[in-house]
Amino acid sequence: MTTGRTIRIAPSILSADFARLADEVARVEEAGADWLHIDVMDGHFVPNLTVGPPIVEALRKVTTLPLDVHLMMTNPDAFIQEFAEAGADSLTVHVETCPHLHRTVQSIKERGVKAGVTLNPATPVGTLSEIVRDADLILVMSVNPGFGGQQFIPSSLQKIAEVRTLIDRTQSRALLEVDGGVKPDNVKEILAAGAEVLVAGSAVFSSHDYAAAITALRAGHQPAARISRIAAAQR
Ligand code: DX5
Ligand code: ZN
Repeated sequence: MTTGRTIRIAPSILSADFARLADEVARVEEAGADWLHIDVMDGHFVPNLTVGPPIVEALRKVTTLPLDVHLMMTNPDAFIQEFAEAGADSLTVHVETCPHLHRTVQSIKERGVKAGVTLNPATPVGTLSEIVRDADLILVMSVNPGFGGQQFIPSSLQKIAEVRTLIDRTQSRALLEVDGGVKPDNVKEILAAGAEVLVAGSAVFSSHDYAAAITALRAGHQPAARISRIAAAQR
């Protein structure tokens, strides 16, 4: 089944080898990644700690890939300026952490950065209804945020479809991104539900062949005959 949508693959550096980060990023760029997904965790909103603006700034110098920064933090407003100056192309905030979500989205956009809005698995799609037209990106979390390598929550498929309907009905320009447990064996359903940007951490960085992993993810929306042709062409 083809949806006619452009599919973008965004490897998440959370599963990369941090001691060789620039090399890992060069490898996924070479392997055909479209965006680079950077997971910022504060040890408060989510039970894990990762990276901040200095890493975004360092990565900005070594890649031309769009930097898709996912802010899993309690007070994202306090860091928007720093992440924008560091070179983020998109900043995605959680509805659960933003009591003044419209203001936060405007504040991101005023800095020339694309504004993403995301929601945890147990947060209803209805929380997006008043912001969907202002957002450049809607991210559906298909795991509870905090860690890479978790299982895709099956009910996320229905949620992705609901968000797709919301985006289309409101004629929002927002791209629909999915994050968590995205693998070659479930990508077909995820794309059929309406996603167009796929975040993949362990599916890419735990594989031995990044190009094959990215091709397998991207090929999820292609008819079977084309999958083998694409794979053969990439060998
Ligand atoms: C989870 C993060 C994800 C994570 C995805 O909290 O937001 O971006 O890196 O990792 P995988 O693809 O391994 O589920
Ligand atoms: Zn993420």
